[in-house]
Amino acid sequence: MSSFSHLFAPLNVGTLSTPNRIWMAPMTRSRAGQPGDVPTELNARYYAQRASAGLIVTEASQISRQGQGYAWTPGIYTDAQEAGWRLVAEAVHRAGGRIALQLWHVGRVSHHLLQEGHQAPVGPSPVRAEQTECFVVLPDGTPARVPVDLPRELQPAEIRGIVQEYAAAAVRAHRAGFDLVEIHGANGYLLNQFLDLRANQRRDEYGGSLPNRARLLLEVADAVIAEIGRERVGVRLSPKGVFSDMTVEGSWEASLYVASELDRRKIAYLHIAEPDWAGGPPLTEEEKRGLRGAFSSVLAFCGNYDAARAETTIAAGIADAIAFGRLFLANPDLPERFRRRAPLNTPDPSTFYGGAEKGYTDYPSLEAASA
Ligand code: PHB
Repeated sequence: MSSFSHLFAPLNVGTLSTPNRIWMAPMTRSRAGQPGDVPTELNARYYAQRASAGLIVTEASQISRQGQGYAWTPGIYTDAQEAGWRLVAEAVHRAGGRIALQLWHVGRVSHHLLQEGHQAPVGPSPVRAEQTECFVVLPDGTPARVPVDLPRELQPAEIRGIVQEYAAAAVRAHRAGFDLVEIHGANGYLLNQFLDLRANQRRDEYGGSLPNRARLLLEVADAVIAEIGRERVGVRLSPKGVFSDMTVEGSWEASLYVASELDRRKIAYLHIAEPDWAGGPPLTEEEKRGLRGAFSSVLAFCGNYDAARAETTIAAGIADAIAFGRLFLANPDLPERFRRRAPLNTPDPSTFYGGAEKGYTDYPSLEAASA
């Protein structure tokens, strides 16, 4: 019987030494303190419970009010939010863990009710994401899933401002005690929209050719690197992902191009969200090896992995680490359960988004269950 020796081999990520290759994937939980979208002690407890992960990547955290697409997600652009995130980072470190904050701008995946002055959300071009919903609180106070709005096209000066907002958010995350930041370039949000052949219809230096479509993502990476250092920066991409109305056309080439550009910048890691997390086909082994060839530092994949498939993917030299989402959500001690081949708690989708302790901090560890 295999002992998952690859999953439990130590790994250096940037300047961090991590004890295993079992990462906690970023997951929106919509439980930030209100008003102000401020992380709380409850959020700190949730992450600290999961500190045995090789690396925790937090839920996505908007870098500005404009970058928000769902009610109750945490921000990283006010002093109160920074102080709230400090509670989270400190609690994880006290529990012996390591944590990256994911930096998020949703772009066109938003709604005027979430925006300052009820303005339209922004995107590379005025192209609406079809069959895509966001989450708002209606004027009468009821929460609702609603179709996203038609976005307004960003002007070049505004794009420069957004790059600065990413840099400022990275500074806040670093000051709050996070070990790394992860730039969210995946899953149909702003940076992915610029890469996308359908969402991006621009004719300026941010649209058209592949270097132009990748320009914003790489400018953001360079600005964040300049502030906190390349060894503290990870990036997430979703090659061939169709979540939030991304098109598969051109996506593979764009991902390979960005992976090789990031490789030149020697960032800490690249994190790949495979299409199967949202119901698509998983990447083929050949595709994963293609990414491996383009990026030489730490490469992590995330999809519907179990421990056995994660172990063989690392053993085959394709990945350095594997991130687990729903399994980590429901099993705070996931590495220990893998190690012991113990049964896993089942995630409850009805408590994924919003609410409080229930379905958040009350999934039992093995220790709690046997007590
Ligand atoms: C979501 O809130 O549904 C969400 C957020 C970030 C992702 C994917 C989905 O990358």
